[in-house]
Amino acid sequence: MSDELKRQAALRALAEIRDGMIVGLGTGSTAAHFIRELGGARLKVAGIPTSEESRRLAEEAGIRLTTFKEHPRIDVTVDGADEVSPELDLIKGLGGALVREKIVAHASKRVVIIVDESKLVDRLGQKAVIPIEVIPLAVPCVLLLVQQLRGEARVRERDGLPFVSDNGNSIVDWNHGIIDDPTTLEKQLKAMTGVVDSGIFANVAHCAIVAGGQGIRKLERA
Ligand code: A5P
Repeated sequence: MSDELKRQAALRALAEIRDGMIVGLGTGSTAAHFIRELGGARLKVAGIPTSEESRRLAEEAGIRLTTFKEHPRIDVTVDGADEVSPELDLIKGLGGALVREKIVAHASKRVVIIVDESKLVDRLGQKAVIPIEVIPLAVPCVLLLVQQLRGEARVRERDGLPFVSDNGNSIVDWNHGIIDDPTTLEKQLKAMTGVVDSGIFANVAHCAIVAGGQGIRKLERA
C-alpha cells in the first residue's frame, strides 16, 4: 500500500497535538511518518516512545523525550495498526513492539490510530496473525496452549534467528483466523502464564484516521 497514504494519515493526526502535551509515539512505518512530521512541526511537546526504533527516530526528529516517572499520564498517543475493525478494535504488533505499545496506549487519555485503508477489516483476524509476546522459557508451552485452542502458531524469526523484542522476549504469531470476541480472547491470552501480552487491542482506540484513494476519513469510537 502506498507510503504516501500512510504519510497523509500521519499528517492529519498532527491536528490532534497542542503545545504542552505529552505524546505517545507509536511504532511502524506509519507512526514513523508521524514522528518525523511532529518533529518538523516544532510544537512544544514531550514524547514517550513505544520502541527503541521510535526513540531513535524521535531523537533524530528533535522531539524532546520524557518518561512515565516524570509523566505517568499521556495526553494523546498516535500509533499505527495491522487491522482495524468497525468497532475500532485492533490487531497490532507485526512490528514486534506490542507490549510497550499497549502500556503507552493504556496510559493515554486519547489514542489516535493512523492507517491506510488496506488495514480496515470487517472482523479482526481476517488477514493478520495475532502476535503474542512470550517469556522465552514459556514459548513451547504457549505454542501448545494456543494450538490446542485453534489454528497454527509459530515462533517469529528475523534473518533466520528467533526475533527478540525490545523487552528481551520472543514473539509467537498465532494464525487464529476470524476473531468473534476480541475482548474475551485478549483476556484469555493475557491469563496464560508466560504470556506478557498480545497484539489484540480491544476498546483502546478512540479514533482512527484512515487515508485512502478517495481522501481521508476519521472514524470515532461509538
Ligand atoms: C508495531 O509493533 C505495530 O503494532 C505497528 O503499529 C503496526 O505493525 C503497523 O505498522 P505499519 O504502520 O508499518 O503498517
